[in-house]
Amino acid sequence: MYAIEVITPGKEYGLQPVECEVPRPGPGEVLVKAAAAGVNRADLLQALGQYPPPPGAPSTLGLEVSGQIAAVGEGVTEWHIGMQVCALLAGGGYAEYAVAAQECLLAVPPGVDIVAAAGLPEAFFTAWTNLVDAARLRPADVVLIHGGSSGVGSAAIQLCAARGHVVFATAGSPEKCAACLALGAKRAINYRDEDFVDVVRDETAGRGIDVILDMVGGDYINRNFQAAAPWGRIVNVAYQAGPVATVNFALMLRKRLTLTATTLRSRSNAEKGAIRDALLKEVWPLLAAGRIKPVIDRIFPLAEAQAAHAWMKSGAHVGKILLAA
Ligand SMILES: NC(=O)c1ccc[n+]([C@@H]2O[C@H](COP(=O)([O-])OP(=O)(O)OC[C@H]3O[C@@H](n4cnc5c(N)ncnc54)[C@H](OP(=O)(O)O)[C@@H]3O)[C@@H](O)[C@H]2O)c1
Repeated sequence: MYAIEVITPGKEYGLQPVECEVPRPGPGEVLVKAAAAGVNRADLLQALGQYPPPPGAPSTLGLEVSGQIAAVGEGVTEWHIGMQVCALLAGGGYAEYAVAAQECLLAVPPGVDIVAAAGLPEAFFTAWTNLVDAARLRPADVVLIHGGSSGVGSAAIQLCAARGHVVFATAGSPEKCAACLALGAKRAINYRDEDFVDVVRDETAGRGIDVILDMVGGDYINRNFQAAAPWGRIVNVAYQAGPVATVNFALMLRKRLTLTATTLRSRSNAEKGAIRDALLKEVWPLLAAGRIKPVIDRIFPLAEAQAAHAWMKSGAHVGKILLAA
């Protein structure tokens, strides 16, 4: 098979196809013949040398795939050769075949194209565990999703809207704001023209936001405190504008806020399996009913992974970028 290798990791990294052995599934694992792989911001960081894979993970890029099961390892009883699946991976997705832990597998939902299904795992595992597990999303909570047109953001908006929440979203252009509205946001805020703190204050009659999902960090950390409602919960999944900030913690005290942050990749298979089970119960029926859809921006051939990275770097995309095997 071939896989995509990072050559000269760092600022000037390149991606090129290389011949390699088909990996063998170990106990509790399956081999997936890939239909497609998702491209994630984390892949760019890994290629830059800023996000090394966790111990034991493959060094090849790629955190999610879809495809058909081609082989099963010892002890795998619920998954069989030929099943159409998508999977969250700790690495190794940019390849014709990838090995996935059985805890991280989901059947392709009825009505979802097998290629498009590669855009589901990373976005929905991340959106679910941060909104529900970390931020303790409750019925009737008002939600703010930063980076609403990103892969993660597009999943989070749909998830919250489908569960009946009022959703605010931020994005960086009129087109991206329109996409957020189409996904179910009540109000999209173009952060280049408007201050999200002012908008949510006005639109919630001064009360603010119950749950904020943030991938920006930097000065958003303090501004999230300003935008939050009493007992609000704020969860960071990234710090794209930087992890260092000047923050008025008196706001946290006064409003009784919770600030947390999580990563997905380094969690155990058991933890990922618990998220998978929740997705299966709560989100897969919404996908099967067509109430939530994978948001696919562009599909590149696997061999053109470098162009796919350049496209993500340009920031022009809405939703997920995929690599078709
Ligand atoms: N912690 C975890 O476990 C976990 C898991 C998955 C993803 N993530 C993180 O979640 C983020 C989204 O991932 P993705 O793969 O979906 O990436 P993506 O589609 O490339 O999205 C990146 C988003 O960040 C927004 N953004 C960047 N800088 C911004 C700024 N200064 N102000 C406002 N918005 C800004 C962009 O919005 P505009 O284009 O509108 O500016 C864009 O929508 C990434 O940072 C990724 O590393 C974390």
